Amino acid sequence: MVPERCANPGGDFFSQMCLAVDEDGKGWSTQEVLDHFNFLLMAAHDTTAASLAKVIWALGTYSDIQARILDEVAALQDAPLDDVALAQLEYTERLFKEALRLLPPVPFIPRRAVRDFDWHGTYVPAGTWVTAAPGIVLISLTHWSDPETFDPDRFSPNRAEDRTHKYAWAPFGGGAHKCIGLHFATMQVKIFLVLLLRRYRVELAQAEPVDWIRVPIPQPRGGLPIRLVPHA
Ligand code: HEM
Repeated sequence: MVPERCANPGGDFFSQMCLAVDEDGKGWSTQEVLDHFNFLLMAAHDTTAASLAKVIWALGTYSDIQARILDEVAALQDAPLDDVALAQLEYTERLFKEALRLLPPVPFIPRRAVRDFDWHGTYVPAGTWVTAAPGIVLISLTHWSDPETFDPDRFSPNRAEDRTHKYAWAPFGGGAHKCIGLHFATMQVKIFLVLLLRRYRVELAQAEPVDWIRVPIPQPRGGLPIRLVPHA
């Protein structure tokens, strides 16, 4: 569809990729459009959708959490969802962080050693494949109290369990390649939740525990049927 879309572009993202040019007027090849599209779908869209699924599950599972989120959303009234309004959604942000902690869309990050190094007494020669595992650290007893429990308030200012170590909470990676979309994803999740919860409350439509598929991107096996109950 690349030639077709380049010839007849619209306002969609795919068309924008076909139209994009650098400062010398050079656009992307078909292969480059495909690569960027794969990246957009997998790294940007699927990751955010996976964590939103976990957030929705949490709303349907913990009525106290949903009540607090609904209060926070109601407090905004009909304010436009600009950065001032979104900054007020502190508990919503804790909920998103907790969803990312317990169901990180990217639990393992592959790397290759570019030079020999020694890691805590283990010699690692250049060229070795190594894996950073934020998914393991995110449930480590060293950094988290009762790590299996879904508890957004562990991110509250007085507990701040994520501040015990620079990489205690690293679902967006770290270092030179840290996710560039992390603030965008947070905004998107907050806006989605406000627009949904201004009108509805969420109920899970089935009683069985959800079986979360973890790789390549988390998702509830068989879907996550929910009921949207309009506010009275
Ligand atoms: C909840 C949502 C997201 C999660 C959990 C996530 C996670 C990550 C992680 C772990 C990395 C580091 C990969 C590595 O070190 O090899 C990364 C990189 C990246 N992410 Fe995200 N991401 C999310 C959303 C997004 C969004 C919405 C965008 C774009 C709109 C995006 C764009 C990128 C890009 C471009 C990189 C590569 C940065 C680089 O290599 O310099 N991500 N992401």
